[in-house]
Amino acid sequence: MSSEEILKEVALEVSTCAKCKLCNGRTRAVPGEGTPTAKILFIGEGPGYHEDKQGRPFVGPAGQFLDELLASISLKRSDVFITNVVKCRPPNNRDPEQDEIAACDDYLDRQIAAIQPQVIVTLGRFSMTKFFGNERISVIHGRARKKDGYICIAMYHPAAGLHQASLKDAIRQDFKKIPLIVAEADRMAAEASTRSGNQPKPAKPAQKHEEPPQQLSLF
Ligand code: URA
Ligand code: SF4
Repeated sequence: MSSEEILKEVALEVSTCAKCKLCNGRTRAVPGEGTPTAKILFIGEGPGYHEDKQGRPFVGPAGQFLDELLASISLKRSDVFITNVVKCRPPNNRDPEQDEIAACDDYLDRQIAAIQPQVIVTLGRFSMTKFFGNERISVIHGRARKKDGYICIAMYHPAAGLHQASLKDAIRQDFKKIPLIVAEADRMAAEASTRSGNQPKPAKPAQKHEEPPQQLSLF
């Protein structure tokens, strides 16, 4: 199956999913959207009020800020892929619970495997935990690390930036690093394929295995 077909299949399953209790309160599930060939994948927390109504990720105030951040590095939504850790809205925007995140994780893994992004940007605490464990966002935000064969970078959630000016600045600064990290990922992929004597091709994820996140030398 092509990446596009896998993403469509995931979206279809998500639309009728009842694997966790969040299915009870949703208006529409929000599988995520963007290009199947995205180099950059953004992973947020879960749908809010507006997302639940429209079935699309990041369309409320946090989404407007995300659009602004994307524009600041000359990107549009259609250049990237945007999804969430849980695909259905938690009641009253409460935090997603462990069992809900676990129930939804397979959809996220299939999306990641289909897209094979060069860079994964986690937005907020819950998607950060998937790649960085129990580290503190205040310490690791904006730093690129290799994890599960992907280059990951943790950022504050855009909604946090709406409430706190200092975080807004931090997110803006962290976003500016994304093009550098993508360029570095391109360089590393080209170098790896030269070493193995193959034609340059996009970075592919390595075998999944437990490894401590590797700090990239450049940042
Ligand atoms: N916040 C999120 O984490 N995800 C959305 O889709 C919208 C707001
Ligand atoms: Fe299914 Fe995920 Fe929605 Fe839970 S949050 S019902 S696992 S799609």
